[in-house]
Amino acid sequence: MKKLLIAFGTRPEIIKLAPVILELRDSYELKLLHTGQHREIADPMLSLFGISPDVDLEIMKTNQDLFSLTSDLLPKLSKVLDEYQPEHVMVQGDTSTSFLTALAAFYKRIPVSHVEAGLRSYDKYSPFPEEMNRRQISQIAQLHFAPTAINRNALVKEGISKEKIFVTGNTVIDALNMIIGSDDFSKSSPSILSEIEKDEKLILLTAHRRENHGAPLIQIFKAVEELLATQPDLKVIFPIHPNPNVKAALDKSRLNNTRMIQTHPMEYLPFLHVLKRADLILTDSGGIQEEATVLGKPVLILRNETERRELIEAGLGEIVGTDISKIVSRSKALLESTINHSTLNIFGDGKAAEKIHEILKDQL
Ligand code: UD1
Ligand code: UDP
Repeated sequence: MKKLLIAFGTRPEIIKLAPVILELRDSYELKLLHTGQHREIADPMLSLFGISPDVDLEIMKTNQDLFSLTSDLLPKLSKVLDEYQPEHVMVQGDTSTSFLTALAAFYKRIPVSHVEAGLRSYDKYSPFPEEMNRRQISQIAQLHFAPTAINRNALVKEGISKEKIFVTGNTVIDALNMIIGSDDFSKSSPSILSEIEKDEKLILLTAHRRENHGAPLIQIFKAVEELLATQPDLKVIFPIHPNPNVKAALDKSRLNNTRMIQTHPMEYLPFLHVLKRADLILTDSGGIQEEATVLGKPVLILRNETERRELIEAGLGEIVGTDISKIVSRSKALLESTINHSTLNIFGDGKAAEKIHEILKDQL
């Protein structure tokens, strides 16, 4: 069996790599590397999918910056690669964990596959640092698993060999289907949803991006405050990302309304229940933009661009940035709208992991 090291460190990487790990585990000698870039929001995702890392670098520090993350992680990655001697390395997405693991593998001349390749906003600083992480991983990787045709074309334009780009769909759709299709999902309902009456409207809000820290986040909270003040039948569920900058901005905004239900970051299964119940999503998250399509939920994107253009083209997503009046007016319009959005498969058919498996059989 070929030795394949799969690296992850944050919540979204674990969710999106879980279907791939489960699919590949009987065909490869897998070495699962957890950098520990995230802790309490990552570990429940591992238990949910029954995944145990072979090594955990426990890198997370409170309010870590990109310099310390980079300089702490690289030497540790070098050691792990020396110890396991993988023949191939797999990374996902755009985090510091994925970029630095790809870089470390490159320094050791080990080939890399990139899951979720080819997403581009074409703005170096947004999402920051993720756009540059993605571009650099594309330069390093040998195999590129692009979720969509738009992503494939972006890579071709950058000169990546067409023969090494494969359109697979996004593995987040596999993960979401796995959980929503489970007995545990159908038998459960999170207690937080008992706070929402049948006839009440629900907004699910998430925000954490580095470029939104400070004033932009405060504007988002001001917009939510205004919405709650003018919409008496509205509630907002806000799972607070543990990045301390998020809570700091929330405190500064002085948002104080009992219909804003603040909660700890939620585990994936209850979170998907909330996503399913929501009438509208306000988010700067990447993964949630993708998941919303399966559940047919309209999304207002709290960023100045998106590298998930497919959502806009399908008419389910709109970019509103962090402008208070735009967020308020578009939220009101969407909450009042009677359009029933159907579910879309623009980000994949839920078989991305199987496709990746088939391609690896052929390519490795
Ligand atoms: C990281 C990724 C971002 C991704 C996001 C997903 C980078 C540079 N950023 O952002 O692309 O969208 O994860 O959530 O890779 N923290 C905890 N507990 C946790 C996780 C985080 O306390 O389980 C706090 C810590 O204080 C930590 C801080 O959040 O220092 C920032 O974590 P970090 O991984 O650097 O950045 P995120 O903002 O989480
Ligand atoms: N998520 C979750 N609980 C939460 C918030 C998000 O399980 O409280 C899931 C969400 O369904 C998606 C992923 O975490 O699959 C997105 O993570 P995040 O927004 O942190 O990162 P991004 O996708 O922006 O990189």
